[in-house]
Amino acid sequence: MKLICQGAEANIYLNEKDNTIIKDRIRKTYRITELDNRLRKSRTRSESKLIGKAHNLGILTPKIISTEQDKITMDYIPGKRLKDTLNKENIKTTMTTIGKIIATLHTNNIIHGDLTTSNFIQKEKDIYLIDFGLGSISTSTEKKAVDLHLFEEAMESTHSDLYQPAINSMQAAYKKNYQDSEQVLKRLEQIRKRGRYVKR
Ligand SMILES: Nc1ncnc2c1ncn2[C@@H]1O[C@H](COP(=O)(O)OP(=O)(O)O)[C@@H](O)[C@H]1O
Ligand SMILES: [Mg+2]
Repeated sequence: MKLICQGAEANIYLNEKDNTIIKDRIRKTYRITELDNRLRKSRTRSESKLIGKAHNLGILTPKIISTEQDKITMDYIPGKRLKDTLNKENIKTTMTTIGKIIATLHTNNIIHGDLTTSNFIQKEKDIYLIDFGLGSISTSTEKKAVDLHLFEEAMESTHSDLYQPAINSMQAAYKKNYQDSEQVLKRLEQIRKRGRYVKR
């Protein structure tokens, strides 16, 4: 097994024999063992459930193979992180797809919690969404708006040159595919203003 990524919360291993990924939530020694075990277990279960839910809605995600206490085994998606594939030529179609994905999530009250271009994998023309580790289920307009805002901030810091066309295409698709998008976008505007106010 090959360690392919060491995150803050989990180690990601690739099993090249059967092309599976193992997301292994690591122990945090600063937490009491009992609490740590409980947290890792509940986050693992929650992530696995949310990936399954999104998958059932037709969003491209890895298929879950098994879930243990602190490990999720899932399909390996051979591709590149969107972070490394976004460019001027593909920005419009890619962001339209992403807007549609987020619209589907929010229509079904799934908050992803970590929408960045590192958590989308492009495999040929397909865009997969991964990493529901900070996700939740909620009908909250605020939480949905924060989900969008995080994505905007991530785009701004990693792809500032593509920011405006990216956000335009993403929002157009979000509006088209999510009935209650208007109130979320209104809240997003308020959150942006709050952000600007705090930054000054
Ligand atoms: N199913 C998968 N297929 C391919 N690569 C993956 C898969 N799951 C994770 N990765 C890779 O590992 C990285 C970290 O995984 P992720 O689930 O995002 O963990 P973290 O919570 O640490 O961000 C991803 O950015 C991606 O490059
Ligand atoms: Mg991630």
